[in-house]
Amino acid sequence: MSTFSIMATAKAVPDRVVTNDDLAQIMDTSDEWISRRTGIKRRHVVTDETNTSLATNVAKQLLAKTHVSPEAIDFIIVATMSGDQLMPSTAAAVQGQLKAGHALAFDISAACSGFSYGLDVMNALLATHPDSTGILIGSEALSKLIDWHDRTTAVLFGDGAGGLLVTNRSVDAQGQFLSGQLDTYGADGDSLTMGKIANRSPFTDGQAQSDLPLHMDGHRVFDFAIRRVPESIQNAVAQAGLKLSDVDFFILHQANQRIVKSVARKLKLPFDDRFPINIDEYGNTSAASEAILLAELVAAGKVKRGDILVMAGFGGGLTTGTVVIKY
Ligand code: ACO
Repeated sequence: MSTFSIMATAKAVPDRVVTNDDLAQIMDTSDEWISRRTGIKRRHVVTDETNTSLATNVAKQLLAKTHVSPEAIDFIIVATMSGDQLMPSTAAAVQGQLKAGHALAFDISAACSGFSYGLDVMNALLATHPDSTGILIGSEALSKLIDWHDRTTAVLFGDGAGGLLVTNRSVDAQGQFLSGQLDTYGADGDSLTMGKIANRSPFTDGQAQSDLPLHMDGHRVFDFAIRRVPESIQNAVAQAGLKLSDVDFFILHQANQRIVKSVARKLKLPFDDRFPINIDEYGNTSAASEAILLAELVAAGKVKRGDILVMAGFGGGLTTGTVVIKY
């Protein structure tokens, strides 16, 4: 248990909204299929925005809301799997644009678990650095990596970013990081892949092909999620010394509304307001989804100081990550 006060949350999504009906114009699908199987109605898709610009937008909002100066930021972490380039990291680009010259900055690659992984890593950094402040952002521009000819994946994903500013400065500290449970199942990694880059040099035979688009075995990932996410949540809540009934909100990665419902059922909890959903508006925004949902809940006054939050991600790796926070 350590001091971990979330001072502000923010989100930034692209202006362009693409409805299910829009997709039905360009591929063999329907609003009825997408809505019934996933809960998705719309998603936001980058046109002029980039992964970096969405993340920077979030970071600037966080500084404006808290009146913290860029020089006072110690850590910037961006969870993403769709950066604008392999190097420099999105986090370094954000640091440069903020002029947060004192902050160390790096990306986390844990796919849709990235924001939960980032929370755990940020907590570890804060725990070893008294009086410090960090920015954690989940940011994705997945539309550039989707195979738009593959209706089984193209309808699922959306672009966006969300984040939070967190501190352990005693004067500002109100919240706590209660527990983190991170797990990786690398042997199952082939069920969800993206951005394969082939060897290419004068010393290879030149036969290997790169394969950038996302590929997913939807059934395997679905089964993985509804088996492993409830376990992850139960372990994290127990580690925090709490019961499921103590939790005010289960903020789950928004991959599929049916997955969230199944997780609630496996936890023997009703699928009610404690399992908020916004996948209808954004689709699956991977590492950004928990952060966007948290920002919306805070903005709506639903999440309040003292609330116990479970933040649970799952996805490529395969990975699961759950953290328990007192907001
Ligand atoms: N529109 C219309 N029909 C479609 C579409 C579409 N977009 N996509 C598939 N279908 C068809 C299929 O071809 C199939 O047709 P058939 O019965 O004639 O063969 C039928 O619909 C049923 O397809 P299923 O794949 O069985 O559909 P399912 O109900 O399993 O839903 C889905 C598929 C939504 C992908 C689901 O498996 C799922 O949500 N999986 C988990 C995804 C997930 O959580 N990903 C997380 C990734 S996070 C990260 O790290 C990136």
